[in-house]
Amino acid sequence: MIQTERLLLRKPRAEDATGLLEAFADPEAMRHIGDGSTTDLAGSKQAIDRWLARWDAWGIGMFVVERTEDARVLGRTGFLRWDPETWEIDGSETEIGWGLAREHWGRGYATEAALALRDWAFDERGLTRLISLIQPRNLPSIRVAEKLGERYEREVEVHGNPTSLYSLER
Ligand SMILES: CC(C)(COP(=O)(O)OP(=O)(O)OC[C@H]1O[C@@H](n2cnc3c(N)ncnc32)[C@H](O)[C@@H]1OP(=O)(O)O)[C@@H](O)C(=O)NCCC(=O)NCCS
Repeated sequence: MIQTERLLLRKPRAEDATGLLEAFADPEAMRHIGDGSTTDLAGSKQAIDRWLARWDAWGIGMFVVERTEDARVLGRTGFLRWDPETWEIDGSETEIGWGLAREHWGRGYATEAALALRDWAFDERGLTRLISLIQPRNLPSIRVAEKLGERYEREVEVHGNPTSLYSLER
């Protein structure tokens, strides 16, 4: 569990499915993620199950972003591992990513969460490199990456989608 000025970053729980669904079911919030498809409550529950399995396998993973003042689930921020040859899940590259429900955008929450997790990954987990995989038109996400200190590195293709790779060395 990680506490920031306004946020609590914690491991996902089954009860987070409804809160996370606000973003997962919103086409606008999913526009630049994968093929842009949305999910229902069952899909949200499956996502949590996948995240927990990855935590068990990797010792690192996705955090739920909860606002401290009212315990509201705003979204998620955290880590995924990728194979840099195939861009399939699991491999040597660690991505830091973020996604919040639309009503919470524009208040610095994603940056606040990601800065804390960047420092945690480097200082507590000993990682030496982080990447972010961002679709080129996703300007708010690129801005968050830049505020973390990530720089544009190169274009890659992730599941058929042209994707910009941003990276940061410790
Ligand atoms: C990306 C996302 C998490 C950002 O969350 P957020 O809490 O609003 O982010 P922050 O407020 O910390 O920072 C957003 C930055 O983008 C900027 N921004 C917002 N809209 C923008 C636009 N249309 N063009 C350029 N910059 C924009 C903001 O001004 C801010 O930068 P600033 O601090 O320099 O002013 C949120 O937009 C989101 O959930 N999007 C949908 C999911 C997604 O695409 N995730 C990323 C997948 S790679």
